[in-house]
Amino acid sequence: MLYIGIDLGTSAVKMLLMDEKGKIEKIVSKEYPLYFPNPGWSEQKPEDWWDAVVEGMKELTSECDKSKVAGISFGGQMHGLVILDENDDVIRPALLWNDGRTTEETDYLNQVIGKETLSKYTANIAFTGFTAPKILWIKNKEPENFAKIKKIMLPKDYIAYKLSGSFCTDVSDASGMLIFDVQNKCWSKEMMDICGITRDQLADIYESYEVVGTLKPELSKEFGLPETVKIVAGAGDNAAAAVGTGTVGDGMCNISLGTSGTIFISSDKFGVDENNALHAFAHADGHYHLMGCMLSAASCNKWWMEDIIGTKDFGAEQKGIEKLGENHVYFLPYLMGERSPLNDPFARGTFTGITMDTTRQDMTQAVLEGVAFAIRDSFEVAKSLGIKIERSKICGGGAKSPLWKKMIANILNIKIDVIESEEGPGYGGAILAAVACGEYASVEEAAAKLVKVVDTVEPTPELVEKYEARYQQFKMIYPALKDFFHS
Ligand code: XUL
Repeated sequence: MLYIGIDLGTSAVKMLLMDEKGKIEKIVSKEYPLYFPNPGWSEQKPEDWWDAVVEGMKELTSECDKSKVAGISFGGQMHGLVILDENDDVIRPALLWNDGRTTEETDYLNQVIGKETLSKYTANIAFTGFTAPKILWIKNKEPENFAKIKKIMLPKDYIAYKLSGSFCTDVSDASGMLIFDVQNKCWSKEMMDICGITRDQLADIYESYEVVGTLKPELSKEFGLPETVKIVAGAGDNAAAAVGTGTVGDGMCNISLGTSGTIFISSDKFGVDENNALHAFAHADGHYHLMGCMLSAASCNKWWMEDIIGTKDFGAEQKGIEKLGENHVYFLPYLMGERSPLNDPFARGTFTGITMDTTRQDMTQAVLEGVAFAIRDSFEVAKSLGIKIERSKICGGGAKSPLWKKMIANILNIKIDVIESEEGPGYGGAILAAVACGEYASVEEAAAKLVKVVDTVEPTPELVEKYEARYQQFKMIYPALKDFFHS
């Protein structure tokens, strides 16, 4: 049988066709625009996602035996607010996970409702990118749109709705809305009241590996796929990526270097970081996880390469970088503000320490290192909770760079396990579809059978020591500039 994983990302949708043994048959990618209508705002049109999925689906299945396609599932960019009216039309462009406009609403939630109360209801506090502050923003700033809302959806759930007609979400993605009681896996009545919404505006909740419906007959005809194709709830992209890298069960770690950068720690039991610097979310394997999320990771390098240097050959720019741990240039990667662990939408990117002999290569190196240092910040929070991490998987576009993996291994002083396929969320989505269709007894069984480690990048004592000193310096930069950012 064949399974399709749809990774609804921020720069593109990546769609992947997998057989029942986990072999990837084909991958297609379709880009769509990202809009920044104001500094710190970030939007996309759900209609663009859907057009890309339709086009991608036709291309993905053009050469396979279509009768064998059994299930479709997802890994989707999290937290985005999609709102539909009574005709199921999209009311306005979606506000994305890295949108920082909701500072007032976030302050209201954290300070007036209070962090403790939010954490009691949802296991999390408010961050500008989360969904609840966005709902409040629409309520405060666009009341005419707020009045039209019949359905509130997350990005991948819009695609599931278009494919199946089922108004659904999954526990991992719902966790990032701040309306969901993560521990008890149900909507929080209190949070609905705080946001001024009602239960009928919210989707039905499923575990990530549960079937939510089947492909609509008219789409089955258009795609030439069987009407029996199961649509499976899927997961937020980080939980899906964790499945795709075998980060399931207890105490496993995955680092994702995508548009965002995340460190994801799976856990058998529900647990909350008492300062809420890490998110406490449900996992796609039926259990839970903690996660730190930085808003700009591989996107910093993409910005530096494409927009500033003007090249698409990232590998060529990294080729001559050899003096690791000795760079005197530092880069703060806060191009969209920062989430974990700073929770500061006003933080900004900077280069620091430039001298007359600074080269383009030093600056490229600083960008890669700055992202790795910022991941270390969240890693330190996890360590302070007593979590021991000795090794991690890695995925996302940035994981293609051997240099970046080496930096991360040494800056975090952990082993980095490289897996056969870096297609985290798409592969995870396909695995969730296979589990839902009965191919495997559980997500953990599927991950154990399908995910293969092919290499391990080990830290070396000499580089760890050099980077430790650099990290201590990196840590001084943001506090020194914080007042400036806020002014
Ligand atoms: C996670 C987060 C990002 C997006 C990126 O909390 O905001 O990783 O899911 O797609």
